[in-house]
Amino acid sequence: MILVFGSINIDLVARVASIPRPGETVLSPRYETLFGGKGANQAIAAARASLPRRVTIAACVGDDAFGRSARDNLNRNGVGADLVTNSTEPTGCAFITVDEHGENAITVASGANATLTEASIRNFGIDASTVAVLQMEVPFPGSLSVARQVRAVGGRVIWNLAPAPSKFSATDLSDLVNATDIFVVNEHEALAAAALLGRATAAFEEAGSFLSRTGCICVVTAGARGAFVFHPNGYRETIEAKPVQPVDTTGAGDTFVGILASSLDEGLPVTTALERACRGASLACLAHGAQTGMPIREQLGIA
Ligand code: RIB
Repeated sequence: MILVFGSINIDLVARVASIPRPGETVLSPRYETLFGGKGANQAIAAARASLPRRVTIAACVGDDAFGRSARDNLNRNGVGADLVTNSTEPTGCAFITVDEHGENAITVASGANATLTEASIRNFGIDASTVAVLQMEVPFPGSLSVARQVRAVGGRVIWNLAPAPSKFSATDLSDLVNATDIFVVNEHEALAAAALLGRATAAFEEAGSFLSRTGCICVVTAGARGAFVFHPNGYRETIEAKPVQPVDTTGAGDTFVGILASSLDEGLPVTTALERACRGASLACLAHGAQTGMPIREQLGIA
């Protein structure tokens, strides 16, 4: 079973010619209201790639219209939402601008996400078959506790260091990697994480290799260049991305993580799981919005 512990947002998305610089105002003809949040995105990507009823999310939403529609969206996509609780804070909201090349800039108002604690997984029967999926849009202490609980019973932990936290100590990060089996970062996150642990470098290969020496597999995602994988024993591999003309890259990293979790849950070896994750992340860039283009099993070539 896959347990996602993370955020749920509603995404307010405006398309612009170029992303505004500080102090600049740009015009967009309209905005769209879409489903998002790294936790929800990863859960939905995993559910679309999995057999039915394999994915549950633990999260918090507000007692508001955004929260109700986000719950409905999880149900429609086959994600178990029994561990989604209502908070007195409003549902998380992300303000997203996407430029004409499909690149984005995102501001997240955390709201209910900031109230999530490990108490919400009390009724989830974690065991050795659990694949836990974590990110950085909910409070770190809860995520760390979930990771440790899952590892204590022999389950596996995938931790995506996104968004890269601005206030994080070396102790926090070392606790995180020590509770993680597969650490997923983009190039920028890899450099920041390595620097925090004492290895300042401008080369993501050096950062990835250094991070894997803490004992986890470090996966550095690199957009159109695919993913670079660093194993704790020093073995390295490169997973090619399917070439696409991206429409919107929002949620591509989340799709990667969700499909990786689904593939490991299904029993695939890590390399095959990463190949499937890369393929799915490319497909996700072909539609507007974080969740719209996330592929289903058939699109991934799974019977
Ligand atoms: O990774 C994309 C997601 O980041 C968006 O859906 C937005 O909600 C933010 O959390």
